[in-house]
Amino acid sequence: MLYPELFRSLEQVRWNMETDIPWGEFDPALLSDEQAQTIRMNAITEWSALPATEMFLRDNRNDSDFSAFMSVWFFEEQKHSLVLMEYLRRFRPELVPTEAELHNVRFEFDPAPPLETLMLHFCGEIRLNHWYRCAADWHTEPVIKHIYKVISQDEARHGGAYLRYMKKALAEVGDNARVAFAKIGVLMASARRTDKPLHPTNLHVNQALYPNDTVQSRLPDPNWLEAWLDHQIHFDGEWEKKVVDRILHNLSLLFERSFESVQELNRYRKEALARLDPQAKASA
Ligand SMILES: [Fe+2]
Ligand SMILES: [Fe+2]
Repeated sequence: MLYPELFRSLEQVRWNMETDIPWGEFDPALLSDEQAQTIRMNAITEWSALPATEMFLRDNRNDSDFSAFMSVWFFEEQKHSLVLMEYLRRFRPELVPTEAELHNVRFEFDPAPPLETLMLHFCGEIRLNHWYRCAADWHTEPVIKHIYKVISQDEARHGGAYLRYMKKALAEVGDNARVAFAKIGVLMASARRTDKPLHPTNLHVNQALYPNDTVQSRLPDPNWLEAWLDHQIHFDGEWEKKVVDRILHNLSLLFERSFESVQELNRYRKEALARLDPQAKASA
């Protein structure tokens, strides 16, 4: 069971909203209205950990270890939403999301294969870690810069925790896990700049609600994410490369084979798939 150890290690580095955020250093001259609006959208997006947790618990009923870890993940993600809202409450109270706006991102996700969902969220944490680091650079006001740095570190640790569960799954189910992880890895590392941002909150998750079945589509401004990345924080090709390298690096460690490119990972996926289905191998 990984939960006790993950609980302990995350507890050791946990930050305190009252004492670890330098609220007193706020400088009103360094926060623009445009910047404050993006904080509001990020606060609502973070709230979507709520429906994601409901999905994780439903789709992992047979895995009590992982389900127990969800208590830590859920707590920390809700805290991200809360610290961003607390910033607005103190310094831009008119922009604090309403309860209705928060509740609007709570909707049912269709059941999905747990291993693929796990990998999807692993990649999502890596991506968000980079988005928040980039956002910390873009912001000029020192308190919000600090907040984005702090939450970006949490996202990196979440990725690390998911990686531990991926390793566990690999030992338990072997090639089925390899195929699932490599498949999603190829998808999530293939983002081109013109494509939609590849993050769990930007994927369609409920056929019956299509097209309003992404978290982003249910935000007060459904188009903010692209604008934030492309025109505000400028998450460019260089940042994107860092995300892809991080995903490939971690999968190299996980699969004990080095991947220099998405193509190499795709080859590995096909090999694992062929082992699972010898007939497909024979016809190939
Ligand atoms: Fe978060
Ligand atoms: Fe996270």
